Formats: sequence, C-alpha cells, structure tokens
Amino acid sequence: DGERINIAIDGPAGAGKSTVARKVAEQLGYIYIDTGAMYRAVTYSSQQAGIGPQEAGKLADHVTHLDIKLQAGDNGQTVFLNGKNVTEQIRSRDVTLNVSHYAANEAVRQFLGAAQRRLAEDKGVVMDGRDIGSHVLPNAELKVFLTASVEERALRRYKEVAGKQPVTLEQLAEEISQRDQLDEQREISPLVRAEDAILLDSTAMPIEEVAQAIVKLSRTKLAGAK
Ligand code: CDP
Ligand code: CDP
Repeated sequence: DGERINIAIDGPAGAGKSTVARKVAEQLGYIYIDTGAMYRAVTYSSQQAGIGPQEAGKLADHVTHLDIKLQAGDNGQTVFLNGKNVTEQIRSRDVTLNVSHYAANEAVRQFLGAAQRRLAEDKGVVMDGRDIGSHVLPNAELKVFLTASVEERALRRYKEVAGKQPVTLEQLAEEISQRDQLDEQREISPLVRAEDAILLDSTAMPIEEVAQAIVKLSRTKLAGAK
C-alpha cells in the first residue's frame, strides 16, 4: 500500500550490521545504505590527498569536493568516489585503522550526515552506522542497536581475513576495541544506543535469525502505522 518506514541499525564494529541490514532491505524491497562505507571513502580520499585527520581546515575544504555514491548490486555494494570505483580500496587495513580519527572531524560528519538525511527523505531506507538512530535519523520509525561480545566480533572478522591479511585474532580484538572506544568517546555524535532503540545481542544468533527478528519488528511498526 506504499506505506514505508526508515530503519536505523547502529552498533560497534563486527556486530553484523551491514550483513543484516542488506538482508532486511532485500526482504522489504528497501534501499540499503552503508554509512560506514561513506566514512571509509572520505578517509581513503583524504589519505590520497595527504591530509591528516587533525588538519581540520584542509579536511573541511576537501569534503566539499567529494561526491560519494553507493550502488547496490548482486555482489554487494559498489562505492564510487568522484566517479571512481573505490570499493576495494576503502576496505584496506590502512583505511580501517584510521577511519575513526577522520570520523571524529566535525566537517566530515556534517557533510556525510546531510547526505545521509537526503538519501532517507523518501523513506524505505535501511541505514547502518554508529549515529543513525541517535543523530542522523532521530525520527526513524524503527531503531535497532546491534551488539555482540568483542570476542565474537573479532572472531567474525578473523574468519573474513584469515589467509588474506597477516593479522592474529588477538590483534583484531585489540583493534576492534580501540575503534569502539574512539567511536564511543568522540565529542560529536558518538556511538551510543538511542533511548528508543531496541537492543539486539547477536553473540549467539545466526545472521538469518537476526534479520528475521528485524523484519518482524518492522512489520509490526508498519501495521501500527496504519
Ligand atoms: O564495518 P565496520 O564495523 O568495520 O565499520 P564501518 O561500519 O565500515 O565504519 C567504519 C568507521 O566509520 C567506524 O568505526 C566509525 O569510526 C565511522 N562511522 C561513523 O563514525 N559513523 C557512522 N554512522 C558510520 C561509521
Ligand atoms: O557491519 P558490521 O561491522 O557490524 O558487521 P558485518 O560486516 O555485517 O559482519 C561481520 C562478519 O560477521 C561477517 O562476516 C558476517 O557474515 C558475520 N556475522 C555472523 O557470523 N553472525 C551474525 N549474526 C552477523 C554477522
């Protein structure tokens, strides 16, 4: 009947946000928006331009020249930065280890936050990140805060990179904890559970189960909205 809602999924690294958000969007026929990919694209671009995360003036100017586009496809999402495909580059270790520092910058957050709000204007969006329910889309009809133990999250990442990146499980756990801390402690729109966000602990939950739980919650919201 054309009734659509916006769904915000926030939480720490490796909680399963992107995997689950993509499935939920697919099942509802909604658009999935990975805001982490946008922060990663800004980080990659700034690094390429030789601009550090503390260079506020240069960063503020740099972001105004960026055009970031997300395109959904069969093999996941493609990320374009000023027309160039940077899908692979933004997942590099160098980007992962530095993204939280760039994400703490005010101009970067304002620029991306505004872009994210525009993408959600017409509803029917599943957006995942750190500050979506708390800051970007405070009126989202459904907010989920997805967590899992740090051990489980590190293990999930380890399974993804084992044999590809020379990194141990312990290292990954340490890096994830550090990134969580930076994201939770930054001054501007930190990682926090919005008061009205539903807490979902996925430590012992398979992907399919988490996705089903969120689809069910959204159907309840949709029924209530009528
Ligand atoms: O997928 P992963 O958990 O590694 O992280 P991501 O979702 O790709 O996000 C990368 C980083 O971007 C996070 O650690 C945050 O520093 C930043 N971020 C943010 O500050 N706000 C968002 N809404 C999304 C990501
Ligand atoms: O986006 P976020 O950083 O929160 O996590 P993700 O990239 O969606 O998930 C990290 C990894 O955990 C992926 O390899 C997922 O397949 C896996 N995962 C899982 O094993 N069980 C879940 N309930 C959710 C995700």
